[in-house]
Amino acid sequence: MCGIVGYVGPKSTLDVLLGGLRRLEYRGYDSAGVSVISAAGLETRKKAGKLDNLVGEIDSHPLPAAHIGIGHTRWATHGAPTDGNAHPHLGGSALKLSLIHNGIIENFAELKAELVADGVSFSSETDSEVAAHHIAREYEKSGDLVAAFRFVMNRLHGAFTILVIHEDQPDVVLAARRNAPLVIGLGDGENFLGSDVAAFVEYTKRAVSVGQDEIVVLKADSVTVYGFDGQPVSFDEFSVDWDASAASKGGWSSFMAKEIADQPQAVGDTLMGRLSADGVVTLPEMSGLSAADIKALDRIIIVACGTASYAGDIAKYGIEKWSRIPVQVELSHEFRYRSPIVTPNTLVVAISQSGETMDTLMATRYAKELGAKVLAICNTQGATLARESDAVIYTHAGPEVAVASTKALTAQITAGYLLGLFLGQVRGVVPASELKALGLDLLKMPARVAEVLEGLDVASDLGAAMANAKSILFLGRNVGFPVAMEGALKLKELAYIHAEGFAAGELKHGPIALIEEGQPVIVIVPSPRDAESLQPKVISNIQEIRARGAKVIAIAEEGDPNVADYAEHVIYVPQTEPMFAAILTVIPLQAFAMALSTAKGLDVDQPRNLAKSVTVE
Ligand code: AGP
Repeated sequence: MCGIVGYVGPKSTLDVLLGGLRRLEYRGYDSAGVSVISAAGLETRKKAGKLDNLVGEIDSHPLPAAHIGIGHTRWATHGAPTDGNAHPHLGGSALKLSLIHNGIIENFAELKAELVADGVSFSSETDSEVAAHHIAREYEKSGDLVAAFRFVMNRLHGAFTILVIHEDQPDVVLAARRNAPLVIGLGDGENFLGSDVAAFVEYTKRAVSVGQDEIVVLKADSVTVYGFDGQPVSFDEFSVDWDASAASKGGWSSFMAKEIADQPQAVGDTLMGRLSADGVVTLPEMSGLSAADIKALDRIIIVACGTASYAGDIAKYGIEKWSRIPVQVELSHEFRYRSPIVTPNTLVVAISQSGETMDTLMATRYAKELGAKVLAICNTQGATLARESDAVIYTHAGPEVAVASTKALTAQITAGYLLGLFLGQVRGVVPASELKALGLDLLKMPARVAEVLEGLDVASDLGAAMANAKSILFLGRNVGFPVAMEGALKLKELAYIHAEGFAAGELKHGPIALIEEGQPVIVIVPSPRDAESLQPKVISNIQEIRARGAKVIAIAEEGDPNVADYAEHVIYVPQTEPMFAAILTVIPLQAFAMALSTAKGLDVDQPRNLAKSVTVE
């Protein structure tokens, strides 16, 4: 979850570092710090708490002008969030080396024991400081900073992105990554490093993804990449399609409000270039799988966490229906420690907004060990998951800064439907005309999402009115069931109250015991137009709970003639192919949760205890 920024060039380093850390705040953190090297040598400032605390510290103890530096926001793993445990950490007999680290060094205890045995004293409880001392000591022995850095990187086990500067070499930032994110920003007479492109997108859109077990030697006028074996590595540049304004609130009250409003574009950009005007899906990203491979597939396992897993649950209905391949959705952290049945004809689909969720990374690595092909559905270009998968379908939702995922979800569902239609086209088990009709309906989703946004005040007003609710239940069937689960998760994340999603059919098997007078229940109601409509069953579920005192808010399709008589409030969404309704019905639930949280005076962008990307298991 940590934010990392590195810079060397003519600009005011402090401005670049603090600006970059601001744009990385969304990653979730509990302390921050910077180191710069000026003519006066290496200097460091760091503080527990939010960035404003660090800025206050720097105001009290100004840093000299500098043209090289590193900056860090920390989400505590080893050691409490204190000033002493904040990064950067210093190393060496004269503390001339400064280091920042994202991840976990799993063998730090043995590495620390070596240092203790040599009488080294520590100023923190962190694993990162151990690396700082080891690199500095190797350098003091050899006089070769790059060799010393590489030697120690080869000794570290676990997950790490590490940046180092040293007073003796004030023109170079060294960096390395293993199982954690790192990208390079290429400038003109200046260069940048970041945990993601948001760190430097204000200054350059030219970026390079650093691969597994690679070392970067970054200078103002040169960037060289090596393997941990010391061999030079070539790298490919990509152009960032985010701009600095996209990573700013753009005048919205919160990132979450902005991102809810971004959804028509997020869905539209994810469809762009993949769905023709006549409803045919093309996925060049799948070119690594031949038609024969696709026809041989006999199982799809979707691995993901949290909201991304609900995207998988929704996509499952379409993928199974159109491709006739059995689909199971697994929580990444459960899949990783089971003994699943995986063969070369298994396609594992990993869904992740950040592409850095360690649970999902571990699940996909496990799946590959077992022989599966891995397809990533990811929103972050160059993310670790993307680089480690056999194929990647990028969602194009743009930077999702708010911890509570919204536009990434609707984009993930869209990508999942595209995948299902594509697999169906190749396997030819469903009439092509049926798939084309679905494709044509999918093309209309961005406009329908925009329509939903126009009517969000109803959901927002209801949310604000229920700020004192202690428990809210969510019910749904078919694709509405994962939507109910997601609606409950949003409320838990944002309003810190009990919220639970149920399959409506499960009510009579226990949950109905929860219903008492005044219990708010939000019900996602299926379309009455669906040939296999489950609507009558859901209407009777509503009658069962209302008979026991529930207060029902229904999310229903425009023109539904039945639902109004059975609900205290109805929020209507445009008609669509019933399978696609999930993209629409989830949005009022996002607005409801955000409004209830705001009415409680809570921080909708950075909810307590949560981070945007959980990069530890
Ligand atoms: C969603 O609102 C949460 N922030 C969380 O459940 C998130 O979806 C989950 O941690 C997965 O993140 P990822 O998509 O980046 O892998």
